[in-house]
Amino acid sequence: MAANGRELARIKNWETPMDFTEHTLLIVDDEKNTREGLRLSLEDEFDVYIAANIAEAEEILENEAIDVMLTDLRLGGENGMELITRALARAKPPICILMTAYGSVDVAVEAMKKGAYDYVSKPLNIDELEIVIKRAIRSRAVEAEVVALKTQVSDRYGLENIIGRSTAMKPIFETVRQVAPTRATVLIEGESGTGKELVGRAIHHLSGRPKSKLVTVHCAALSEQLLESELFGHERGAFTGAMERRIGRFEEADGGTLFLDEIGEIDLNTQVKLLRAIGERTIERLGSNKPLKVDVRVVAATNKDLSEMVREGTFRDDLFFRLNVVSIAMPPLRSRKEDIVLLVDAFLKEFTEENGKAPMELTAEAMQWLLDYEWPGNVRELRTVIEHGVVMSNTPKIGVRHLPMFLRDDSLRDLRGGGTPKPKTSVVVPSSEPEDLNLARTEERLIRLALDRTGDHRTEAAKLLGISRRTMQRKLKEMGLVDE
Ligand SMILES: Nc1ncnc2c1ncn2[C@@H]1O[C@H](COP(=O)(O)OP(=O)(O)OP(=O)(O)O)[C@@H](O)[C@H]1O
Ligand SMILES: [Mg+2]
Repeated sequence: MAANGRELARIKNWETPMDFTEHTLLIVDDEKNTREGLRLSLEDEFDVYIAANIAEAEEILENEAIDVMLTDLRLGGENGMELITRALARAKPPICILMTAYGSVDVAVEAMKKGAYDYVSKPLNIDELEIVIKRAIRSRAVEAEVVALKTQVSDRYGLENIIGRSTAMKPIFETVRQVAPTRATVLIEGESGTGKELVGRAIHHLSGRPKSKLVTVHCAALSEQLLESELFGHERGAFTGAMERRIGRFEEADGGTLFLDEIGEIDLNTQVKLLRAIGERTIERLGSNKPLKVDVRVVAATNKDLSEMVREGTFRDDLFFRLNVVSIAMPPLRSRKEDIVLLVDAFLKEFTEENGKAPMELTAEAMQWLLDYEWPGNVRELRTVIEHGVVMSNTPKIGVRHLPMFLRDDSLRDLRGGGTPKPKTSVVVPSSEPEDLNLARTEERLIRLALDRTGDHRTEAAKLLGISRRTMQRKLKEMGLVDE
């Protein structure tokens, strides 16, 4: 916190020299002499653009990131207020300053009510004007910095929330840092539970656009029509049941990030539309043929092998290449076991706090179990296991007996999806991978297996399963294997 406080003081200090030549200024005036005169006087200080009317100004706003817009109130037949209103409605509005003639204070006040930053009266004093513009830029920089600092402090999704020091994770962090501030589309691939969504959030939060939105769409959860309407929105009456106009997620994310989860699940028709939305930055709501401009950065995630799907023809290659500008392959947990200790620490802290318990730790033996396990469900599975341990233990130590049963016994290893994991594209299903995930049936199978191995010795079998004799007795009854 102290560092953040100092940082703020540094930015707040108006005396700190600041280079303004990086900042863009748009001057809008219908009189050629005024425009050119202002350009000449200000172009040493700022990166200056000029426009003579609303259309020209809007074109520049569309194509350039303008920091400050200085507009005359009277633009020939057009009105500078109208331009300000439109500029402020943009996803990333410039700071607006109005130039008014001979002290028309009412209009100036109205402009400020509408969100203009300040006004200056003609005839202009260039020195004063320069000060007003610089003050505007500084205040915006401070605003942005405060938001950024707040996010750093309060947000659990920054880069620092992706835990890992392994060599497998290092390139992930580097890529995230490198790519976050750009507009590049990112494809995150990896098995379930490896942290794809976490990385997607980090990319958004490190994008340097702290006020912009992160919008997530889970593509798998929706039917074709619903997904299209979710992404692009629809007009009233676009299809049966479309009672109201609906703004799609692309529009909602304008100026920010759209996270498309499980991108491998979308159908070919929607893929075409998605390609257009990303490539041309244009969408159409269902039931409308009016193209809408959207400024959205897309991050997509999948646990499927998209290049394999391209080969099979179930995923468009052009969309794949569009998405795959930068790709991040999340390593499975089993290939970075050195991170397990760190992850366990973090999850212990999280769940003891959540459950109002004193700090806890794992016994060496329990930790060894976690290190030996192959983690088919990756970090998500580890997180669940630690939560289980925290809840089950009444002492500050979490032992093997507090771990979920499937982790505990060597003789059950075959049945718990451990061993060598199945390669992504392999057609051979290793016999160690349980096909049936039904809990009751699996439990019954494990109990029978334990009884087999112990020669029907119930107490021994119960030990093997890590349950009490009483529980064993009850389960056998439920299975109809013993009489009352
Ligand atoms: N490196 C990590 N550090 C801390 N927590 C992590 C890490 N990776 C994953 N997690 C946690 O594990 C859980 C699963 O992560 P996440 O939802 O990002 O995975 P995913 O790859 O999107 O999975 P799925 O494909 O099933 O959607 C989350 O609770 C997340 O916070
Ligand atoms: Mg996910």
